[in-house]
Amino acid sequence: MTELVLATNNANKLREIQAQLALPSVRVLSPREAGVPANFDVEETGETFTENALLKAKAFAAIAHAPVVADDSGLMVHALNGEPGVHSKRWIPGSDHDRNMHLLEKLKDQSDREAEFITVLALYLPDTDTAHFFEGRVSGKIGAEERGNAGFGYDPLFIPDGYTQTFAELGEEVKNTLSHRARAVQKLKVFLEAWQEGSDADVSTISRSY
Ligand code: IMP
Repeated sequence: MTELVLATNNANKLREIQAQLALPSVRVLSPREAGVPANFDVEETGETFTENALLKAKAFAAIAHAPVVADDSGLMVHALNGEPGVHSKRWIPGSDHDRNMHLLEKLKDQSDREAEFITVLALYLPDTDTAHFFEGRVSGKIGAEERGNAGFGYDPLFIPDGYTQTFAELGEEVKNTLSHRARAVQKLKVFLEAWQEGSDADVSTISRSY
């Protein structure tokens, strides 16, 4: 049994990733289960999703002394030159709803509503000081108003390509089949399966040792 600590205090993310990473031989632990204090947080000072994911993974691993998976995600809006991007979480002070209103205001009278959610997952193995990265993306559009109650963040505004409903309307089960995070987790899952079999052949991942 491989135990992985998920470096997040976000209960939504923990639930999403635990559901997506269902493998008989992998147990995904919350930070609390791995002895990380409840209020432990890491400042996301990186300039890229990759930097932030690695920063978080290493900080949690230093306490948990175990393999850690950390994710950094964000929304990139085409008409805003990729904003809010790595700043998605704290784009403006206030609540998720406030940030959604801010986004709608910025896109007022804007016909280009293209956007993309991105997740980078970092798997950090403290024993070998090695990190592996897995990226997932989903394209869509920013709706005209908030719709739906499921999920978090920008979910009430994001309409994935091929759908007419927002992530918040589609709900967790559908979102988990097509989201940026689901796609990154899928790559991690393939990697873990190969890793456990002792093979590193053909793993569709960006990995590096440093
Ligand atoms: P984090 O740094 O990975 O926690 O994500 C940064 C921010 O991106 C979150 O606080 C949300 O505002 C936004 N975000 C990331 N993933 C999602 C998602 O699946 N749905 C909606 N918003 C998201």
